[in-house]
Amino acid sequence: MTVRRLGFRLPPLPNFCTRGRFGVFPAPMTEHTPKKLFIKTYGCQMNVYDSDRMADALAPHGYEPVQVMEDADLVVLNTCHIREKASEKVFSELGRLRDLREERRANGQDLMIGVAGCVAQAEGDEIVRRAPAVDLVFGPQSYHRLPELIARAHNGSKVVDTDFPEEDKFEHLPAARKEVTLARGLTAFLTVQEGCDKFCSFCVVPYTRGSETSRPLEQVLREAQTLAEAGVRELTLLGQNVNAYHGLDARGRTVGLGELCYRLSLIPGIARIRYTTSHPLDMTDELIEMHRDLDALMPYLHLPIQSGSDRILKAMNRRHTVAEYRSVIERIKAARPDMALSGDFIVGFPGETDADFEETMQIVAEIGYASAFTFKYSIRPGTPGAAMDDQVAEPVKAERLARLNALITTQMRDFGRSVVGRTLPVLIEKPGRQPGQVGGRSPYLQAVHMDGPTRLIGQIVPVEIVAAGNNSLTGKIVTVAEPNPASVIESRASAAHI
Ligand code: 5AD
Ligand code: SF4
Repeated sequence: MTVRRLGFRLPPLPNFCTRGRFGVFPAPMTEHTPKKLFIKTYGCQMNVYDSDRMADALAPHGYEPVQVMEDADLVVLNTCHIREKASEKVFSELGRLRDLREERRANGQDLMIGVAGCVAQAEGDEIVRRAPAVDLVFGPQSYHRLPELIARAHNGSKVVDTDFPEEDKFEHLPAARKEVTLARGLTAFLTVQEGCDKFCSFCVVPYTRGSETSRPLEQVLREAQTLAEAGVRELTLLGQNVNAYHGLDARGRTVGLGELCYRLSLIPGIARIRYTTSHPLDMTDELIEMHRDLDALMPYLHLPIQSGSDRILKAMNRRHTVAEYRSVIERIKAARPDMALSGDFIVGFPGETDADFEETMQIVAEIGYASAFTFKYSIRPGTPGAAMDDQVAEPVKAERLARLNALITTQMRDFGRSVVGRTLPVLIEKPGRQPGQVGGRSPYLQAVHMDGPTRLIGQIVPVEIVAAGNNSLTGKIVTVAEPNPASVIESRASAAHI
């Protein structure tokens, strides 16, 4: 067993690419003994993407996804370490899996248990110590090795692989079959960037996901082309710090996120592009101008500020002030006036006073968010925040969170109501809950339900928004014509010009 555990206290950057060995994959299974795979995904969209890629890596080896954990031969927990609650959930699930395995063994069957993702990366062999039922532990950079790791685990050894290998996992991960891609939906995630060099003092990401790397342009375009050929219409580009994307093109030139979006928009079938999540410092002029010029780039931006207090932003090592954030938002709004904004906020960071928190309330009130994610500060061992004095008491955090949530809920409701009466281009994604209904999304990422035929799935149609509920909009398709192409807004129709 090769184990190199990444401790949180190690300086992460120089150590990440130390392993040159790359095991040979076992040949894909030839005999038909399908095995059942259940992946439980925790945390962010990057984990959702990774879980799909793990399933794709295992498909040629006879693993078929199942919907229920109890039916599986292999269960993988794809974990999140961002807050304490998220990582603790994993250990309680492992307790249930241990019991499930004991039941299985009593009936002469077996169950293999794997832990992937950021908890795996952070805790490594500690997981096997705490939960001995676990057979394999592997970090986000090892997913392409999964068939090999499973083969080793089948031989009875505990496998822990949390290396940052030299080889590019994306070059070794197979694409999903067309029908598998389509079954996942018309909108797809596509990871273009991983890791983070920002080192916000509350955050584990630079330690669990390593330093910033960007996938080469052509590799991303190839994956997008395959998705488009399977029927995908909308891409959400993912990265821990996606707007820091700086991939190389075939000539060795560095390409930014704006140019990447433009190149992706040229792929036939790709009608909409989104990206998440971004840091204010990496909002370049090129990217902002792309929001002005590229209709395919949707007017919805997730741009976290975390706190409205300069003092706290400094302690968080965010490297920008509130005024600088405000000026980025002004530039974005000048380029794309209808831009809907989303953000992340942490309340109760060490040292946050009532006055600091009021400043957070003020910036939220001033900017006006279409949606936002709010969190109580959670101590993450090994990060600078964990060692800070003045940790804020839980009841204070809870009270601040409740106040912030109330404000944001009002803003979300107001944003929903603000589009009532407008006609928006909606990408029809799936059948609705009721027969005769379909569901889709507005350019601003709002769920829209409306009466309509399922043959519209995959098309972008004009929809008059007639009502706004708590979590979704109700709409009326303005024209359903058959086969009048003028009534269907084609791939590159402008969200803004309808
Ligand atoms: N405590 C609370 N929230 C956190 N986040 C990251 N680390 C922590 C932490 N230690 C939040 C930030 C980030 C989002 C993904 O999770 O708001 O933007
Ligand atoms: Fe974490 Fe985002 Fe800060 Fe990077 S920029 S350290 S991912 S919060």
